[in-house]
Amino acid sequence: MSKLFIYYSNTGSGDAVASKLATLGYEIRKVTPKKDLPKAFFFKVMSGGFLASLNAKAKLNEFDANIEGYEEVVIGSPIWNGRLSTPINTVLSLLDLNGKNVSFILYAGSGAAKAAPKQIKKFVSEAKITILKEPKKYPEELEKIGE
Ligand SMILES: Cc1cc2nc3c(=O)[nH]c(=O)nc-3n(C[C@H](O)[C@H](O)[C@H](O)COP(=O)(O)O)c2cc1C
Repeated sequence: MSKLFIYYSNTGSGDAVASKLATLGYEIRKVTPKKDLPKAFFFKVMSGGFLASLNAKAKLNEFDANIEGYEEVVIGSPIWNGRLSTPINTVLSLLDLNGKNVSFILYAGSGAAKAAPKQIKKFVSEAKITILKEPKKYPEELEKIGE
């Protein structure tokens, strides 16, 4: 069975998840926005956090939205202001998830995601959602994957 992990990462949590999934046989597709967040946390929150709270979509660099042939698709996003990140909002608007086995891995500073499950429901009615607390800093969080 072919499995795909599509994700965005600004500071490496998502990359830690991708490394783990690669060892489990997933193909990896990383999304990069045309304009990534500024470096300083204050400005990250002012720009990314604000746009995420509006459900905004980031413009992506070339992104292959073809997921034909994959039976399982996992989507990874950091949590920004309790919500999905803006690059992943774009991804969700581009993918045809009909009939796919789709699940989500979210990474957050608090290990919680207030509004993201509701956002996800708009695209996939039944999706398993795993939320990890800073998996780059706490690698033991990665053990929650596949539980
Ligand atoms: C703009 C912005 C907003 C954030 N908002 C939240 C939040 O609401 N709740 C939370 O737990 N963490 C929040 N965080 C922390 C990130 O979700 C967390 O550090 C995550 O692991 C980052 O993933 P990445 O390293 O793959 O980019 C925020 C980070 C940024 C940059």
